Amino acid sequence: MTAKKLLFAAMSAGIAMSMYAAGEQIVVETDDNAIVFTVGDNNRLYQSYFGQRLNGAADYKALPLGTEAYLTHGMEDYFEPALHINRADGNPSTLLEYKKHETVSHEGSTETVITLADPVYGDEVVLHYEAFGPENVFKSWTEITNREKTPVELEKFASSMLHFDAPKYIVTQYSGDWANEVNSLDQELHFGKKVIDTKLGARENMFVSPFFQLSLGDKATETSGDVLVGTLGWSGNFRFVFEVDNLGKLRVISGINPYFSQYPLAKGETFRTPEFIFTLSDKGTGEASRNLHDWARRHQIKDGKGDRMTLLNNWEATYFDFDENKLVSLIGEAKELGVDMFLLDDGWFGNKYPRHSDTQALGDWEVTADKLPNGIARLTEEADRQGVKFGLWIEPEMVSPKSELYEKHKDWVITLPNRDEYYFRNQLVLDLTNPKVQDYVFGVVDGLMTKYPGIAYFKWDCNSPITNIFSNYEGKNQSKLYIDYVKGLYSVLDRIAAKYPDLPMMLCSGGGGRTDYKGLEYFTEMWPSDNTDPIERLFIQWGYSQVFPAKVQCAHVTTWNKKAPVKFRTNVAMMGKLGFDLNLHELTSEELAFCKGAIKDYNRLKPVILDGDQYRLVSPYSGNHASTMFVGKDGRQAVVFAFDVHPRYNEKLDNVKLQGLDATRNYSVREINLADGSQSQDVKTYSGKYLMTVGLPLFTRNDLASRVYELKAQ
Ligand code: DGJ
Repeated sequence: MTAKKLLFAAMSAGIAMSMYAAGEQIVVETDDNAIVFTVGDNNRLYQSYFGQRLNGAADYKALPLGTEAYLTHGMEDYFEPALHINRADGNPSTLLEYKKHETVSHEGSTETVITLADPVYGDEVVLHYEAFGPENVFKSWTEITNREKTPVELEKFASSMLHFDAPKYIVTQYSGDWANEVNSLDQELHFGKKVIDTKLGARENMFVSPFFQLSLGDKATETSGDVLVGTLGWSGNFRFVFEVDNLGKLRVISGINPYFSQYPLAKGETFRTPEFIFTLSDKGTGEASRNLHDWARRHQIKDGKGDRMTLLNNWEATYFDFDENKLVSLIGEAKELGVDMFLLDDGWFGNKYPRHSDTQALGDWEVTADKLPNGIARLTEEADRQGVKFGLWIEPEMVSPKSELYEKHKDWVITLPNRDEYYFRNQLVLDLTNPKVQDYVFGVVDGLMTKYPGIAYFKWDCNSPITNIFSNYEGKNQSKLYIDYVKGLYSVLDRIAAKYPDLPMMLCSGGGGRTDYKGLEYFTEMWPSDNTDPIERLFIQWGYSQVFPAKVQCAHVTTWNKKAPVKFRTNVAMMGKLGFDLNLHELTSEELAFCKGAIKDYNRLKPVILDGDQYRLVSPYSGNHASTMFVGKDGRQAVVFAFDVHPRYNEKLDNVKLQGLDATRNYSVREINLADGSQSQDVKTYSGKYLMTVGLPLFTRNDLASRVYELKAQ
């Protein structure tokens, strides 16, 4: 087909397509931002611009050519490339020339697809940029196709490469450890590289989260400054490379961590990278977060627009020490408390090796007969009788060396030949590259759902990184293991989603180990940390909220830090997806009354907290207080949370200026969640202008005090 005929065929199919070359510009726009690519005289693709939208074609034409968009190994560039292909003839270089581009409309987004190819070897690289207009979010990913006669090997294969030219670059990473996740840390970039990566395989985000903020110029604040926020949708090893070159320009390369992941591509085969999701704001990190929250709820999270259930979890109430009677009584407590669901955690399975501790039984997913003689059915029936839902904990990707599964199927376990095994939390990871193991893991969920149709929710845990890295299934291609493991996991999750499309699930990975947007395509919520000390949670929830909405951040009231009043603990948890994980008899009658009242308030305010706009007002990092507010999408209702952690003696207390309100409206302001569970009778009225300009005296000098205010437009 001639180029003209091809163009005509594409246009009649509703796809806008272009095959022009030299000087041609490709503009990818959201409501506020634009990425502009230009085809150079040498027929290569350049990124000419990424920033606020300009006044159209004339402005874009005036831009300098910029830097080659998707730089490859072996050509003229001296810095980190996005792509590196090894070939059978030993030539490790790739030259990419522009071939064509097209735009495809989707519901809520427009996708620009740019095809590049090596003029000598034919290998094709297709760059995808999907732009979500009102949310100002972009997604980008790459497809690499081997068009040669022989297999090739991908050495580096980035999802995205972006170029910046700013007076200063400050990257903010979110890192830490188990129970100490997402500590915010800033670093100014100078010549050279900064790398944020992980090679844990599973539980991949235990030390560092797969997202960052990049201030372009001075450090962005919540309300000012140019900032890029980026995250990778991949539940496996990731890598972000920030490299400042000799001219002071910055390139940001995002994708799978290529560490021990050389990936063979057979003739004609295509490799699709995960998606890099990013937003740019010139109004600071608050707006950037709200962009991502809106996008995620509308387009990414499983049941992103749906409701979420409050729950009572038994993990911290019992650990492994429970029997049927105890669980039946806890189901009664869930009912009494007024939550939607009872969630049975770890410890209900294994017979030859009963799960009485974390040392055994993973893999043996039958109910422990002497612990629960009437099976899960007795519990789902009891939950049904009490009018609450029933949820169940599983960890189906894992195996205990002390289990029947390990005895039967050692070949299904990721473990090294000729080496002693070493364990993380006494367990090993199953080899999800093997389709038989995928069937088995799918069968764990499917088997439980078939046998106990009363199960309404799963908490899917993943407590170990991939250790002892060797797959029986991959044979000589061990460097495929990290990637194929994740693909295997997604194939299982796809099957679960297809068969049980409405089944809500929590993405739990020992707390914080899996926190990525691809995972959240399959999960309705995630478990940010095992640390539920409310003071720590102020920081942890603050960290995750940079990228994820409150709707996915499970936050439970527990007995961590008993010095903090139940009211303080509950108010912190109300800023996320509220749950409880304690014995009710550990509460005084006043505390219990408070919790019941708070749950009622929470249910009423869920549309504001879970689906509204979040404004981080005072950072816990800034000192002795913290405050966050949520404004309903119609602007008529808002909730403000205020916390005093350890105020100084006689310290000066400043008003806190609220955000996101309608300046022209009047709002009634009433304190709710009082210690006795009631609401204050003292209702004051202020204009939105006043609240956002003068603010309110939200803080006190009392240790571990907290308040919640409800605002209603009049
Ligand atoms: C780790 C999770 O984060 C906890 O909430 C709990 O489910 C335990 N695993 C159970 O082993």
